Amino acid sequence: MFLYLLALVVLFYLFRWARELPRVGDKASKYVYITGCDSGFGNLLARHLDKLGFRVIAGCLTEKGEEELKKACSANLIATHLDVTSKESLAKVAAMIKDKVRERGLWAVVNNAGVAVPSGPCDWHTLDDYKFMLDVNLNGVIGVTLSVLPLIKKARGRVVNVASVFGRICVTGGPYPVSKFGVEAFNDSLRFTLAPFGVKVLCIEPGFFKTSVTDSEIHIKNVQTLWDRLPQDVKEDYGVEYVHKSMEVTKEKVSQMSDGDLMKVVNCMEHAVSAAWPRKRYSPGWDAKFFWLPLSYMPTCVVDYLFLKNAIPIAKKLQ
Ligand SMILES: NC(=O)c1ccc[n+]([C@@H]2O[C@H](COP(=O)([O-])OP(=O)(O)OC[C@H]3O[C@@H](n4cnc5c(N)ncnc54)[C@H](OP(=O)(O)O)[C@@H]3O)[C@@H](O)[C@H]2O)c1
Repeated sequence: MFLYLLALVVLFYLFRWARELPRVGDKASKYVYITGCDSGFGNLLARHLDKLGFRVIAGCLTEKGEEELKKACSANLIATHLDVTSKESLAKVAAMIKDKVRERGLWAVVNNAGVAVPSGPCDWHTLDDYKFMLDVNLNGVIGVTLSVLPLIKKARGRVVNVASVFGRICVTGGPYPVSKFGVEAFNDSLRFTLAPFGVKVLCIEPGFFKTSVTDSEIHIKNVQTLWDRLPQDVKEDYGVEYVHKSMEVTKEKVSQMSDGDLMKVVNCMEHAVSAAWPRKRYSPGWDAKFFWLPLSYMPTCVVDYLFLKNAIPIAKKLQ
């Protein structure tokens, strides 16, 4: 019985491996629009797809990012300024893309741009903090997608959304998981809406990787900034020890947990863009595969128990 089961599992993985090998042809005529190409996954993906022969349109927030990418890539790559929170910026880039792709349409958009701070306990944030992050991480994804959707439909192309394991399970405060759960919901609703048009919608849910999103220096500075502006009563609830311990944990755990091999994520993005039969969801990173995603299927009480047991203690004890 055990051997039959093993054989079935092996057959399943063999079938999946073979099915996932073929790539789409005629890359030189396929335009791929990527957001957030200044650094991290977006930057590496732009370089990688350019090398593979795709026509990359790389949205960069800074002029420096644009210039560096142009220097590092072939003359086929178009680097352009893009702020995903600005309607004007979205419209300008979409008009440029329409002009370039003409009747071919746009093969793929990769919604990668994102921010991870401010991040801390929920009551350390203002409504404006939530609005800021939702504007980049969620409304940015929706805005970019809608701005080029007619072109994607024309090409029977793809939308690739970069969410996170924190779009599947939430064990931290602040707006980041809220924005990523939103990306997951948008991704799934779009997938159903666009299936009849032959458009594929794929989701990337990375674990922890070493980029500015997981940079412990940035996170420690962010904790200090949030703490400094807190009202006195909230400071007394948490206590100064809580802040020190949070910074310690951030420094130790986040860099320990983060994988330095960003190509694990970039290869998934590339597969989503170029495979004849892409996966609907990708979970790059051992932590995503063997910790966060299995945990997301556990009962809520188990997750709460595990994380509250190890939570940093607050100063104010319950009466
Ligand atoms: N690293 C991880 O462990 C991890 C895990 C799960 C999910 N993710 C997601 O992966 C995506 C890429 O992040 P990353 O890890 O590669 O970090 P990253 O290097 O910080 O990349 C994010 C990019 O988005 C850009 N960006 C920020 N605000 C923008 C705006 N308003 N308009 C346009 N672009 C903007 C940033 O530009 P600047 O550099 O100029 O600010 C940067 O190039 C994000 O969506 C992130 O949430 C990352």
